[in-house]
Amino acid sequence: MDEVTGMVARQYEAYAYPQPFTDLAAQVADGYFEYGNPANYAALLWPEGRPAAKQRPLSILAAGCGTVQAAYLAYTNRGAAVWGVDLSEASLAHERYLQERHGLANLRLFRGDLRQVQEIGTTFDCIVCSGVLHHLADPDEGLRALAGVLAPDGAMTLMLYGATARTGVYMLQDALRRLQVPQTTDGVAFARRLVEQLPERHFARWYLAGAAELRHDAAFVDTFLHPQDRAYTVPQVLDFLERNGLAFGGWVDNAHYYPDAALARYSPEVRSAVAALPAREQWAVVEMLTQNLGMHMLAARRADHCRPGAAPDLASPGWQGLVPHRVPGLKRAPSPPAHAPTYTRGSQGFELGPGQAALLDSIDGSRRIGELLALPALAHVPADTREGLTREFLAQMWRLGHLHFARGAA
Ligand SMILES: C[S@@+](CC[C@H](N)C(=O)[O-])C[C@H]1O[C@@H](n2cnc3c(N)ncnc32)[C@H](O)[C@@H]1O
Repeated sequence: MDEVTGMVARQYEAYAYPQPFTDLAAQVADGYFEYGNPANYAALLWPEGRPAAKQRPLSILAAGCGTVQAAYLAYTNRGAAVWGVDLSEASLAHERYLQERHGLANLRLFRGDLRQVQEIGTTFDCIVCSGVLHHLADPDEGLRALAGVLAPDGAMTLMLYGATARTGVYMLQDALRRLQVPQTTDGVAFARRLVEQLPERHFARWYLAGAAELRHDAAFVDTFLHPQDRAYTVPQVLDFLERNGLAFGGWVDNAHYYPDAALARYSPEVRSAVAALPAREQWAVVEMLTQNLGMHMLAARRADHCRPGAAPDLASPGWQGLVPHRVPGLKRAPSPPAHAPTYTRGSQGFELGPGQAALLDSIDGSRRIGELLALPALAHVPADTREGLTREFLAQMWRLGHLHFARGAA
């Protein structure tokens, strides 16, 4: 094991991540979900339709699974075969605990380096790798290893640290490294005391305010005392994928990348100037104008097999055959009958008129746009304007991150 991998492995042995929970059933019943889980995000992963035609179960790899992710994927994808790989035995021990507790016969766990994942001897329809590649000395090497075991029609979800929001984190990491603060109980206590004394204007303040998990030592060490970590801007994420044989497949949550929600505090003048740019430029500009992306979550495909467009083609002649899918977390809030229907997702909240509400409520992951256009609630809208309004509404819901689109029931 090389020196960097050794240091990383020792950290996650002593501070297994994330802070584990003991009952997956209770967590999932309580609304817990993980981004990129194919059970919820198949439309993002496979907009052309899930590789369900295969006569075998979906194969899923959690690369650098930590304490929970592999068991969570096995629990929420009972029909799939799930593999979890991690350097840390402490993390795998908790995965095993969850496996036994929930009877997850579809889960296999391996201790090892994801760069040797081909030794498992199979390819995967879906690879989830969140919060891992940016801890490798050479993240490209790790990504190429994963791309090498992705099935031709497979899909990957990655979470990579975002550079802008973590600027202050790297300043603190640098200071704590120079102070030689160790990853020990005393070292963590010292670093916590130091963080409490940061001036109001320190670049890490904003990050600290938004990361509730930092109360757990594993997350605190992971953030401020990590021996190896780097972060990416939007253009760097795209370049990282493309130089390693992958094609960008979409953001898990468009709300952070399109001006509609992300630039809500800016004037219509600024928002429309940004919206007029090509998609990749919009994402890059939005990131620089918001500086609030501590992580990038995205889907990727094998570039030699599939190059998804930047947006669903709602202008194509076949657009009515697309199936919209709601993303997890989108809820209609209870509201009095006289009040406009209100929806929430994360920090977003919005009201809709009765026609649009009926449209959104009817999206169930199986109805095609053509069927939605025939809803009785839209019958009062003249036929010649109904299509245009529906197209624009669905495109906006997609830019706000509330919907993904697939050909067929993903
Ligand atoms: C920040 S944790 C993320 C855990 C999990 N993916 C999640 O999102 O909850 C990073 C995990 O990656 C593992 N890891 C880091 N480098 C690795 C490598 N080269 N091969 C396998 N696992 C690795 C660590 O042991 C740790 O459990």
